[in-house]
Amino acid sequence: MIVFATASQKGGVGKTTVCINLGHALARRGWNTLLVDTDPQGGIGLSLSKNTRKKRGFYDFMAKGGEARRLIIPTRLPEFSILPSGSADEFMRGTDFENAPEKLRDFLRQIDLLGYDCVILDTAAGMTSMTETVVRGADWIVVPQQAEPLAVRSIPLLMETLSRFRKEGSPVRIAGILLTMVLNTHEASLKVVRELRQMLPPQLLFQQDIPRDNLFLEASAMGLPIALMRKNPPATALIFDQLAAELEERTGLGDRKEQDHSHASLLD
Ligand SMILES: Nc1ncnc2c1ncn2[C@@H]1O[C@H](COP(=O)(O)OP(=O)(O)OP(=O)(O)O)[C@@H](O)[C@H]1O
Ligand SMILES: [Mg+2]
Repeated sequence: MIVFATASQKGGVGKTTVCINLGHALARRGWNTLLVDTDPQGGIGLSLSKNTRKKRGFYDFMAKGGEARRLIIPTRLPEFSILPSGSADEFMRGTDFENAPEKLRDFLRQIDLLGYDCVILDTAAGMTSMTETVVRGADWIVVPQQAEPLAVRSIPLLMETLSRFRKEGSPVRIAGILLTMVLNTHEASLKVVRELRQMLPPQLLFQQDIPRDNLFLEASAMGLPIALMRKNPPATALIFDQLAAELEERTGLGDRKEQDHSHASLLD
């Protein structure tokens, strides 16, 4: 099982949107995928069930432990499930979550035993205590970054932080920086993208950018992947398929598929 998490210093850069749509794209590509909301104010899964707000979730597990599988909400796509954030009131009140790293390890071990190929952990912005725990516990980090001037400023600090976590024993590596909310019709936005691509090493940036598209506003109001917004998935949904393919290649997830000989059976 591969554990992905998002991280960004700034809020509102598109983390949750990326998690929902990337998670759905990975699931459509055949990976058994669990999307976990670790943002105490998160709303992932709200539209799946009217009672999601009241449902137990990640924070309940972090507070009390128990059986993680009981917190999972299935979706219509059998390969895609969601685990909501649950009740974060105690955490928000400042109650110290004792042994959070051990609890997270136990959580991920349980999820692994359930047969998931990937887990995507959506995080709250900044390095809050829980986001730090989650990032330290992840194998790969996806870093959504709004394509705007000065965007590059926060990158060195994030790289330093990740390299410190690794020195301290965390497996975490950066899968890539993902430029989001790119305005393809605005020269200023495209200029930022060009400049960032010149400035940063190619292996640090996903080739695929995420365009600004109002469909995301509509979709996030419902907590849905955009691929499920219309009967015929909009073209923007294909972007996440492309991103998922890139992620498979960057993290070695794709190698596992080849071991399945799924192509061979098609040719037989
Ligand atoms: N590519 C996009 N085009 C247009 N709107 C977008 C795009 N990505 C995200 N949005 C919108 O921007 C807002 C913030 O996005 P999102 O919630 O994904 O960011 P976030 O990084 O998770 O925020 P937070 O830090 O508060 O958790 C949402 O209303 C979302 O619908
Ligand atoms: Mg979010």
